Amino acid sequence: MAMLKSSLAFLVLAFAFFLCFIMSTGSHVYFQFVQQWPPTTCRLSSKPRYKHRPLQNFTIHGLWPSNYSNPTKPSNCNGSQFKILPPQLISKLKISWPDVESGNDTRFWEGEWNKHGTCSEQTLNQLQYFERSYSMWKSYNITEILKNASIIPSATQTWKYSDIVSAIKTATKRTPLLRCKWDKNTQLLHEVVFCYGYNAIKQIDCNRTAGCKNNVGISFQ
Ligand SMILES: *[C@@H]1O[C@H](CO)[C@@H](O)[C@H](O)[C@H]1NC(C)=O
Ligand SMILES: *[C@@H]1O[C@H](CO)[C@@H](O)[C@H](O)[C@H]1NC(C)=O
Ligand SMILES: *[C@@H]1O[C@H](CO)[C@@H](O)[C@H](O)[C@H]1NC(C)=O
Ligand SMILES: *[C@@H]1O[C@H](CO)[C@@H](O)[C@H](O)[C@H]1NC(C)=O
Ligand SMILES: *[C@@H]1O[C@H](CO)[C@@H](O)[C@H](O)[C@H]1NC(C)=O
Ligand SMILES: *[C@@H]1O[C@H](CO)[C@@H](O)[C@H](O)[C@H]1NC(C)=O
Ligand SMILES: *[C@@H]1O[C@H](CO)[C@@H](O)[C@H](O)[C@H]1NC(C)=O
Repeated sequence: MAMLKSSLAFLVLAFAFFLCFIMSTGSHVYFQFVQQWPPTTCRLSSKPRYKHRPLQNFTIHGLWPSNYSNPTKPSNCNGSQFKILPPQLISKLKISWPDVESGNDTRFWEGEWNKHGTCSEQTLNQLQYFERSYSMWKSYNITEILKNASIIPSATQTWKYSDIVSAIKTATKRTPLLRCKWDKNTQLLHEVVFCYGYNAIKQIDCNRTAGCKNNVGISFQ
């Protein structure tokens, strides 16, 4: 009996430690790799207009460890502090991951690391986190994919959610997620999300519901 009690106590304790471990490591299940269309970011930015860089290229917003029950979590985990990156990587990130709103690229990278990267550090250390993001960006040129499908910036034309998704899906073989922003009555394409598995290697289908209103045309400008 005593032995049963102590082994039960042991199990309870082990489970408690297991829970602590899960919580402290951030518990992501997959990654969302988010790319933004800078003109939309800038159009709705509250930062001073003279600092904006509305590049006509999809650029990285971030690589976000995610789980299905709470897509905005985990975030702001207790990980290592942002360290200065090697010069070669910096020059790659300056093209792929610029801060288009206020021009301080380092601050943007630091903010994304602190908010998101720290929550997947058991999978990707800091160098890997930024290297992996860069190679994800390199692997598909969304600007070109859309251009080839005749989806090009236009002040007047709009597209259906499914038109944009299928153009991308044809190239990547995986379902992306679109995110939109509203400016008055116009729904603007803002971001394209690719999903990756736990190790951030294999691209998978995104299966969340749309981040845009499905029954309203999407403007890309
Ligand atoms: C898009 O990115 C490519 C590659 O860096 C660059 O050559 C080109 O100038 C960029 N285009 C625009 C409009 O920003
Ligand atoms: C999702 O993340 C939240 C917040 O970190 C966490 O409480 C929850 O347990 C996670 N769910 C899964 C399935 O990992
Ligand atoms: C973060 O982790 C470090 C080292 O593991 C620990 O010393 C520190 O107390 C933790 N901070 C918080 C806010 O949990
Ligand atoms: C850019 O941000 C970094 C990191 O937050 C900071 O150390 C640096 O002073 C900033 N640079 C400028 C020019 O504001
Ligand atoms: C992506 O494609 C666009 C449109 O063809 C082009 O302007 C841009 O330079 C390409 N970006 C890269 C990094 O090759
Ligand atoms: C876009 O079209 C050009 C010209 O036909 C082709 O060379 C290129 O591979 C296409 N790119 C994509 C991403 O489909
Ligand atoms: C998305 O897929 C995951 C893994 O297959 C599953 O756990 C989750 O419930 C799915 N979510 C939705 C909204 O279908």
